[in-house]
Parts: sequence; C-alpha cells; structure tokens
Amino acid sequence: MRVGILTGGGDAPGLNAAIRAVARKALADGGEVVGIHNGWAGLVEDLDMRVIDPHEVSGILAVGGTILGTSRVNPLASEASMQAVVANFATAGLDALIAMGGDDTLSVAAALADRGLPVVGVPKTVDNDLQVTEYCVGFDTSVGIVTEALDRLHTTAAAHHRVMVVEVMGRDTGWVALMGGLAGGADMIVIPEFSIELKEIVRHLQTRRARGRDFSIVVVAEGATVGGLPSLDEDASARDAFGHILLSRRGVGPQLAEQIEAATGFESRVTVLGYTQRGGAPTAYDRIWATRVGAAAYDLVREGRFGRIPVKRGDGIAVATLAEVAAGQRRVTEDLYELARVFY
Ligand code: F6P
Repeated sequence: MRVGILTGGGDAPGLNAAIRAVARKALADGGEVVGIHNGWAGLVEDLDMRVIDPHEVSGILAVGGTILGTSRVNPLASEASMQAVVANFATAGLDALIAMGGDDTLSVAAALADRGLPVVGVPKTVDNDLQVTEYCVGFDTSVGIVTEALDRLHTTAAAHHRVMVVEVMGRDTGWVALMGGLAGGADMIVIPEFSIELKEIVRHLQTRRARGRDFSIVVVAEGATVGGLPSLDEDASARDAFGHILLSRRGVGPQLAEQIEAATGFESRVTVLGYTQRGGAPTAYDRIWATRVGAAAYDLVREGRFGRIPVKRGDGIAVATLAEVAAGQRRVTEDLYELARVFY
C-alpha cells in the first residue's frame, strides 16, 4: 500500500512523532509512505512529494516543526484546486492519504472524503479546539511554554511592581490562555469565549493594588475581544487563504498594556509569546499522544475506514468522522473560566 502524508496549517510540536508513527507502521507492513510537502500545496500546485526512507524518520521524535513542511494553501478556494488534488492523488499512485491538521486542513480532508478520496485525519493544533476530540497534538507543549514564561515574568513583574500583559495564541478559543494561565498563576485571563470590558480589567487591577498586590499578570489570547480598546489592527486585507485575520498583526496585547497604563497609572509592559508557543521540542505527553494517534490513523487506513479520524476520548482513542471534527470548535466552558477567576 502506498500512503501519502501531509501536514497543513500552523505547525505543532509532535507532528514529527506522528509522521514517524505512520511511517514505522507502514514500513513494518511492507508498505510505502510518500511525504507530501507543504500541506495541500504539495498536492495542488506542484506534486511536491517523495517516498520517505526509513532513515528519514529516525531521530525526529524529539524534533519540533514538521519534516514535511506546511502551508495554509486552501484547495477549497476553487473547484479547479480541488480537482487538481484529486487528479494529483491519482497521478502519484496513492492508495490513501493521511492529513494532519486543525480545522482548516481537516475541512479540506472532509470535503475530499465526500468526493470519495480515501482520506484519514490526525488532529493537531496548539489551540486544542477541534470538536469531538479532547486533545490535539501540540497543546501540552504550548501550555508548558506559556507556564514557563509566566513563571519568569512573575519575578520581573514583582521586582518592578508592574502589570505584565502576556499575549498567547488562541484564534477563536482560549484553551492555551486558560490552561497556561491556570498553571502559571495568572491574575486575570482574557479569552475569546468570554468578552470583557477594559473598565472591568482596570477595576480588577486597581482592587488588587488596593489589597497590596503590587504587580499583576494578565494573560490575553490573541483572538480575544476587549470592549473599549480603541483600535485593534483588524486589516481586512491581511487574511490567510482560509479567510482568517492575521492575528499576529492585530495587537490585542500591546493595546491592552497601553490602555491599562493609561487608565491606572500602573507601569505596564507586554510580552507577546507568539511563535515560541509552536516551536521547539515536544513534551513527553505530545510525543506519546502523537505516536498513538499517528499509529491509530495508519490502522484506519489499513482497515479501509476512510473519512475518519482518531480522537481522544477519556484515556483512549475513539474514531470520529472528519466531518464531525471539522464542523466547529470546542470552546472553553464556563466552569473552567470560573475556576481560573477563583485565583485572581
Ligand atoms: O491555528 C493555530 C494558530 O497557532 C493560531 O492560534 C494562530 O492564530 C495561528 O495559528 C497563526 O498562524 P500563522 O502561522 O499563519 O501566523
């Protein structure tokens, strides 16, 4: 059997562990694995792919990024692109395709499965917000990076008696902000699921100061909305191929720090953790989970169960359809948000 693999969308630590798991299982079965480069671009534009040798998947378990490269190329943008994927899949002589990605990549995979292409998915996104699955490859590493950063920022914020605003990833959901903030002892967490007014943030920071807490750590997800912030740079023309605003340019963290300082007079600083949250070595948890879910994806291929995706349910792996997983987002629940507020 000749199985293609691609990784699409933002990279996530653990992708290489998942690629390695697919490749090892396929090679043990006497099969062949074809690495498709740079996400859907490798199937739409230039048939950029080659057979993966066993030595290429040695030594990659602990390595971040993806050996296959990635992109945000979106075949759903045109019928011609979708047809190119189907045609190139056939030209490459593939029997199956494993697409590793978040909601964007998997929505393409689901649409291709609808057209009869033998596709299986692997859920990955540091945002950890895919529906149906309780976990996505990369999240644990990302939360660990935020936690370590908050530990470091605590000591410098305390030394200078400052408000430290920390902007973290999270386009539509606040899982990284909430879990990183819980683990790192944030004094306030601002996430897309629960909108908040600038004046509420200001009031809370003033109350803390009045209680003798002379520094504060505010974690804000890059996609969060704060009522009363004068200008977020939501440039409608700066969008990716899936239509998402480029949040790295939106600047909610810097804006918030500036407005907090203006409203309270407390010296405020901002740290945008940005792409550090996606880079570097995966944690043990991500290596293990990516290995399990990569192996499970290969098993689905071998069993001919296409249009499906292994997901986390409890401590085990269940199987969902690509359509279910790509249908919407899993959002932070009110009880978790309220739990974080206990420690403000
Ligand atoms: O999808 C995961 C994510 O990390 C989002 O949190 C973030 O908005 C986006 O990727 C940034 O992606 P890019 O690499 O395209 O700037």
